[in-house]
Amino acid sequence: MKIAVIGSGYVGLVAATCFAETGNHVICVDIDEQKIENLKKGIIPIYEPGLEPMIQKNVEDRRLFFTTNLPEAVAESLVLFIAVGTPSGEDGSADLQYVLAVARSIGLCMDSYKIIVDKSTVPVGTAEKVQAAIAQALQERGVDIEFDVVSNPEFLKEGAAIDDFMKPDRVVIGAENVRTLEIMKELYSPFMMRQSRIITMDVRSAEMTKYAANAMLATRISFMNEIANLCDLVGADVSSVREGIGSDSRIGHSFLYPGVGYGGSCFPKDVKAIMRTAREHGMKLQVLDAVEEVNKRQKEVLVDKVLNHYNTSAVAGALKGRHFAVWGLSFKANTDDMRESSSIVIIRELLRLGATICAYDPEAMDEARKIFGDAIHYAAGQYETLENADGLLIITEWNEFRRPDFERIKQSLKEPFIADGRNLYSPEKMQQMGFTYRCIGRDR
Ligand code: UGA
Repeated sequence: MKIAVIGSGYVGLVAATCFAETGNHVICVDIDEQKIENLKKGIIPIYEPGLEPMIQKNVEDRRLFFTTNLPEAVAESLVLFIAVGTPSGEDGSADLQYVLAVARSIGLCMDSYKIIVDKSTVPVGTAEKVQAAIAQALQERGVDIEFDVVSNPEFLKEGAAIDDFMKPDRVVIGAENVRTLEIMKELYSPFMMRQSRIITMDVRSAEMTKYAANAMLATRISFMNEIANLCDLVGADVSSVREGIGSDSRIGHSFLYPGVGYGGSCFPKDVKAIMRTAREHGMKLQVLDAVEEVNKRQKEVLVDKVLNHYNTSAVAGALKGRHFAVWGLSFKANTDDMRESSSIVIIRELLRLGATICAYDPEAMDEARKIFGDAIHYAAGQYETLENADGLLIITEWNEFRRPDFERIKQSLKEPFIADGRNLYSPEKMQQMGFTYRCIGRDR
């Protein structure tokens, strides 16, 4: 099948590459000339395990192409995926200007039947706006060309994007007619594993599904973070509680890990956007209000544990003269993405309290330099952060932090103090090894 994917961000690039991998002819379009030039040379703008070799292979096999020329891509393709960004506007609503600009551009150049697919995360009702923008452009040209607009939200996770796309739990397709549904089903049939299925529905329900899914996952995380904080107070171990509740098949094990609060480019933005949609309809989403509030608070919990350790409160200067090592800056492991990362809140607060920081992340150092500049020190490796440090804070759950050389850590730190925001180690073993170990929901 001939496909164009417009927008070469995370979702667009992964979708385009995976569609090419299954034999389709895919043209990736972006307005950023530098990005397209780089992609043609095999330089990938994001860190995503497995993506680079897959792009290279499909480019070499002449199934995956990159261009800034939208009309050419539209002319060659039957299915046009819109995968441009929908950033949060000031009021929390999703900013649709890029999506609608692409829709209009398509309308201004298409010359035969097209299926336009909303892949970007867009609020309920956007497909209708896309439809209207294309129709308007066609009308201005005085032509009458058939087209259909489909909603096909994406559920891939950064860091596991290829796997999520190639082996999805489900593919959601919102379409208003059988012809488009059949084409979309055919496109996705190579990705259907034993467990996966295609769920078809009307367009508005598909748009809503995306937000409801992310809001539900964010809710689970905030819920578990509150349970973890309560575990600390009552002397329970949240890991045991998590196993205990997760084995109820109605609850399930995934996305129940307490930590430093959720971040990234999706949960914070999508929770805000669905709340905004509700407000526009005169409704307040009370559960999500609390989910956001808890998440904001959770980003401060690790600093509270540090303050607690020194028996002091959060007044400016409270940590003056203290120096801390920080492991992990990205919003989660396996990505260089620092958008809405809890590390930003934690580090800024430590700086406000007067502490100095030396940080390391396996992939996010460049991003970190853009954010913190020379307000903190950067180390070349995880152990290099420890020199002269009063303690170690762990913010991201990278695999290489999971089984470190504890002796080396102990010898390097001035005091064997670790505040772990991701529960990477066993509190009992840490105690046996002589560490003062603070973590989330297991500080008995
Ligand atoms: C999320 C969803 O998981 C994807 O299904 C969705 O497609 C994507 O948003 C999107 O809308 O594009 P992503 O933002 O890549 O994916 O990251 P997640 O793995 O979901 O993690 C989000 C945040 O929650 C991270 O900060 C992570 O550390 C945190 N988290 C996750 C927890 O604190 N506990 C958990 O148990 C799981």
